[in-house]
Amino acid sequence: ANPVVTDKNSCGLPNLGDMPGAKPIDCCPPNLETTKAIDFVFPTEDEPIRVRKPAHLLTGEDLEKYKEAIRLMRELPPDDPRSFTQQANIHCAYCHDSYVLNGSTAPPQVKVHFNWLFAPFHRWYIYFYERILGSLIKDPTFALPCWNWDHPDGMEIPAIFTDRRSSLYNRKRNANHQPPVLFDLNWNKAFGDTSGDVDGNLSKVYLSIAAVKAPDTFFGKNFKEGGGKFAASGTLEQLHNPGHTWTGDPTDPNGEDMGSFYSSGRDPLFYCHHSNVDRLWTIWKDKFCGEDFSDDDYNKSSFLFYDENKNLVRVTTEQCLDPSKLRYEYMDVPIPWEFAKP
Ligand code: C2O
Repeated sequence: ANPVVTDKNSCGLPNLGDMPGAKPIDCCPPNLETTKAIDFVFPTEDEPIRVRKPAHLLTGEDLEKYKEAIRLMRELPPDDPRSFTQQANIHCAYCHDSYVLNGSTAPPQVKVHFNWLFAPFHRWYIYFYERILGSLIKDPTFALPCWNWDHPDGMEIPAIFTDRRSSLYNRKRNANHQPPVLFDLNWNKAFGDTSGDVDGNLSKVYLSIAAVKAPDTFFGKNFKEGGGKFAASGTLEQLHNPGHTWTGDPTDPNGEDMGSFYSSGRDPLFYCHHSNVDRLWTIWKDKFCGEDFSDDDYNKSSFLFYDENKNLVRVTTEQCLDPSKLRYEYMDVPIPWEFAKP
């Protein structure tokens, strides 16, 4: 059967066993009176389409709104499900075995990495995050920017995240990978502080997106109740990993914040990074004819999120497969890796 998260009370303490020095936390959603999940309803067609832009092109009013929205999110009390803390905790709970599957305590617990849940889970995650930010500044057109690291102009930590006085700043990042150091999509911690090269990065994106046909190569292997294995990520997820490991602070025990599942949602850059991952999924589908899975265990898999009105909402994977129904899109920017065959 498909992995369904039906009950937020099926959330338990995260398994941080392999994280030396990680402060034990409970990352389950807060107890609100409305604990019963409602089924997701699509936004209506009179809602404006949110246009997500590359972070390195974000200026003026767009930038001020983004900073203001994050600032307001940071000010919410930590037990508000829309708060900065609770938003970060979502990643912790879904990545460290906090949720049991279909109400059963038998393994496997829900994991949203190393399998086909990676793409839909993160799409939903930033969907709600974006709407919460927009509602905090009362702007229904607010759109989450994307870290456009597949373009030479975007191949460094976007400057808007590095201003220490800004709400977008996070202290726990690699001091040696600050702009203008070039991001390295082939990075591996074992390499030390090598910097990337534009052509190597473009080829990597080409190989991970343009050159991939089969859905399970792109999204990762299945994750099902009972038989769920958790050992085969797809090329989309693999491509995205250096965005975490290269950015996190190597002087922290687990590369916090970006370098660890439990802490990565504490860096505003995380959501901007995932906005680009999501964008590459849309490009794969629209431009390279990438297909969805037809397996119901994929399509009916479900997650729980709090929305911008603090309602607990149950969403399914199939409901997120068409971004236009979710009322967002990505700014049309050049794709310099389209023919970057190595
Ligand atoms: Cu849940 Cu970028 O990872």
